[in-house]
Amino acid sequence: MDELRQVLNFYREMGAEFLHLPGSDRRADLADLTREILQCRRCRLHETKSHYVPGEGSNHPGILFIGEGPGETEDQFGRPFIGRAGQLLDKIIQKMGLGREDVFIGNVVKCRPPNNREPLKDEVQACLPWLLRQIAILQPKAIVCLGRVALNNLLGTSHSMGRIRGQVLSFNGIPLVPTYHPAFILHKRDKEEISRAKWEIWEDMQKVMAIVAGKHP
Ligand code: URA
Repeated sequence: MDELRQVLNFYREMGAEFLHLPGSDRRADLADLTREILQCRRCRLHETKSHYVPGEGSNHPGILFIGEGPGETEDQFGRPFIGRAGQLLDKIIQKMGLGREDVFIGNVVKCRPPNNREPLKDEVQACLPWLLRQIAILQPKAIVCLGRVALNNLLGTSHSMGRIRGQVLSFNGIPLVPTYHPAFILHKRDKEEISRAKWEIWEDMQKVMAIVAGKHP
């Protein structure tokens, strides 16, 4: 088993990050991966961050939520989605009848980009293998991409969220539901727009729940 693991690690290093050994210990694999992430120096973002934010939650989640990257509060505490956008995400998860411990919450980049700017192409390229390995270990039933940065970097596309949401896409055979980033709601002033965005996110989450329950066509 150890030899097989070494061979798989070799192929992962060569770029096949989504390879995962069936039946291997997810908890241990995730803990090992997290330890690796906490030592990452693959891009400049580790120089300016306060804490790495590797992601957290169940090691056997029905749902993997993926955001863009840590903000100020997340950077301060090393935990994903614990600021204002995180409070909204918590409400969404609660409304789905779940808790944070039932899902996994991660990001495209594990270190905060300075001033919350969008992560640059080379930063995403350097960091994405971590996320791909997390997905391979977690094997979620559904992936929710929160916002276009998560969606387009994971899929290598350039979709507009307004146009693509409502559809169920796929990542390596895992159903992927794109929806608005919770911060999208926080930035809105118009009450009608806020209610519409909230409703659309909820529509998307109903799809996610159907997928996890095995009821989505
Ligand atoms: N926004 C994100 O995209 N990720 C976080 O962890 C927090 C805010």
